[in-house]
Amino acid sequence: MPTAWESLHFMRGAAEADEPMGSKEKWWVELPMLGERPWLLKLARLDERDGTVSGEDWAEWTVHQLAEQLGVPSATIRPAMLENRRAIISRSVLRDDFEYLDHGNSVLSARFPGYDQSVQGENPGYTPFAVRHALAEVAPPADNDWPAGFTAFDVWAGYLLMDAWTAGRDRHHENWAVVLRADERRLAPSFDHGNALGFQERDERRVRMLADEAHLMRWAERGASRHFVGQPKLTDLAWSALNLASRQARRFWVERLDEISEDAVRSVVSQVPRGIMSEVTHRFVVQLLVTNRRRLLDGYSST
Ligand SMILES: Nc1ncnc2c1ncn2[C@@H]1O[C@H](COP(=O)(O)OP(=O)(O)O)[C@@H](O)[C@H]1O
Ligand SMILES: [Mg+2]
Repeated sequence: MPTAWESLHFMRGAAEADEPMGSKEKWWVELPMLGERPWLLKLARLDERDGTVSGEDWAEWTVHQLAEQLGVPSATIRPAMLENRRAIISRSVLRDDFEYLDHGNSVLSARFPGYDQSVQGENPGYTPFAVRHALAEVAPPADNDWPAGFTAFDVWAGYLLMDAWTAGRDRHHENWAVVLRADERRLAPSFDHGNALGFQERDERRVRMLADEAHLMRWAERGASRHFVGQPKLTDLAWSALNLASRQARRFWVERLDEISEDAVRSVVSQVPRGIMSEVTHRFVVQLLVTNRRRLLDGYSST
């Protein structure tokens, strides 16, 4: 059964502590009825081109649901409204006050002293190879039954496979982290998936892509990272991470992706209300996910 889209409503003033990192308007809120952990309330941005609401909310919710299907640990997302502004809430990946996040840029610079932590765009030191080194002493995320011998990097490679599947373009070095707890270090569940699934495209273009498979394919193939060195295509980036992961991890992630049916994808996407995601966008997102899954699986079988 897919999870239903159930929006939580907040009034101004509900917001508590500001979250200083990242770019959007967002605040930490306590929601005792949903458990002990705080939630990060993130507003969907207004599109500067015409003042419409950008689809970061449905993208973030949908990617979380897809992550569950793929077996990628990710922050739980619920849709929300802050008065009349669309938003999501993201449940803290920290289980209690004894845990802290150490972001990718800090993890990388601890391993490579010359690593430039402050770069916003393409970073000459940011490669899957460097990340594998930096995660060498880190355990995989908690609360999952990983196959014996699975490393943090084996899981991180799965994050990149998910990004390539969902056209997620935002895996910069502050959008993944390690959870520190006393002297334990574990990869954090994945978070910040709003920049995905073509959330910024216009419906007129989506209509054209739905009518012309080659157009959609060209669009999907252009999807690239702006942050890793060489600005690789998302599929190439996922493969370079998976090729550096263990053989069992490669097989594990490919099998998980292979098992996902079009029906399963459609049943997730169809939960998003039509007032938030147009009919055309529903169809586009399903078609994009089907296309990207095929591209990734074809890439695997041809290696
Ligand atoms: N679910 C979460 N649990 C813990 N920390 C989070 C979570 N989501 C976001 N954060 C923290 O808040 C920062 C900003 O949130 P993020 O989702 O990345 O928003 P933005 O899109 O503005 O970058 C992250 O870099 C991370 O430090
Ligand atoms: Mg972020």
